[in-house]
Amino acid sequence: MKRYRVALIPGDGVGAEVIPAGLDVLRRAGEVTGSFALDAVEYSWSCAWYLEHGAMMPADGIERLRDSDAIYLGAVGFPGVPDHVSLWGLLLPIRQQFDQYVNLRPIELFEGIEGPLRDKRPGDVDILCVRENTEGEYVGIGGRFHVGRPDESAVQSSLFTRRGVERVARYAFERARRRRRRLASATKSNALQYTAVLWDEVVAEVSREYPDVELTRYHVDALAARFITAPESLDVVVASNLFGDILTDLGGALQGSLGLPAGANLNPERRFPSMFEPIHGSAPDIAGRGVANPMAAIWAGALMLEHLGEEEACGLVMTALRHVAAEGPRTRDLGGRATTAEVGAAVAAAVGR
Ligand code: NAD
Ligand code: IPM
Ligand code: MN
Repeated sequence: MKRYRVALIPGDGVGAEVIPAGLDVLRRAGEVTGSFALDAVEYSWSCAWYLEHGAMMPADGIERLRDSDAIYLGAVGFPGVPDHVSLWGLLLPIRQQFDQYVNLRPIELFEGIEGPLRDKRPGDVDILCVRENTEGEYVGIGGRFHVGRPDESAVQSSLFTRRGVERVARYAFERARRRRRRLASATKSNALQYTAVLWDEVVAEVSREYPDVELTRYHVDALAARFITAPESLDVVVASNLFGDILTDLGGALQGSLGLPAGANLNPERRFPSMFEPIHGSAPDIAGRGVANPMAAIWAGALMLEHLGEEEACGLVMTALRHVAAEGPRTRDLGGRATTAEVGAAVAAAVGR
């Protein structure tokens, strides 16, 4: 039996409520398959930790995570600490320093869940988003000038590198090859004549290595509309950091709730640990009541098992998740009355049944 060292960062708000539910499900999958156990090392880094220590994590935080086989994260950010401080203190440095350049976010409407689109069924919504995760609009280059004065100004630059676009595009083409062989690239090269034009050129160059995959370029505004009007025309979507962020919350809405979508922050070469998390945030509006939907966290856990090579366990968790989506119990975001713990326990009980 294998043992994996998983760093747990439950974080803030509902993050800390959904991660324990997810961990129980993953451990159950390990028992049922008999193939692995998880050694969880928990870190309490969060906004509460910040208020006590003046930082989101210790100075050697990244070093402490480095030996992990994977990182399982809830959510970061809570009222009381400015969001740019909390996110630049914990989540974004992990993505950047561990070179997790792929943020893989599946968007799928499950059987039994009513999506918001009148005439779309499960099967019509099955999109795999590949979001660039280390550069672009999120490089954090810029500054503020004359703060507080009438002539105050701010600059925030984005940075796109040939290498950065090339590697995420290649990853997306590889994924498309294993699916329906269609890749949609999100651009905005009509207005962004430097960065987005570089993006388009590099994606087109990489596409020559994949003649079997049909590449279509969409301006991101039109692509957002297409998510609603014709999601069935989309297979794999590759997008820059910010475009991918926005499109995947839209994707979450298409799944019926932000309590469902999950993401994998991957360092595909495995030089550093990868990180798995729900797409949603700390949901301060419902935090502390035990009513958050744990399904996104559980799905993120399944992505972690897949990354660890535990394909069978991943399959069992996804089957259990689909079963509970169809049969209930459901949390309030999906029209039910169940608690986080009840839904988590139902998924755990359905693993391997
Ligand atoms: P949010 O995702 O936390 O909440 C948006 C809406 O979705 C809210 O109405 C919330 O109640 C609902 N929701 C979210 N998760 C849910 C769940 N599991 N079950 C049921 N309903 C759920 O987004 P926000 O309000 O923009 O952000 C709140 C905080 O979280 C901010 O500090 C933000 O920066 C942070 N954030 C963190 C991450 C992350 O750590 N990956 C992601 C997004 C936002
Ligand atoms: C996400 C989140 C983060 C992002 C925020 C909290 C910085 O919205 O993971 O989608 O924009 O990447
Ligand atoms: Mn987001």
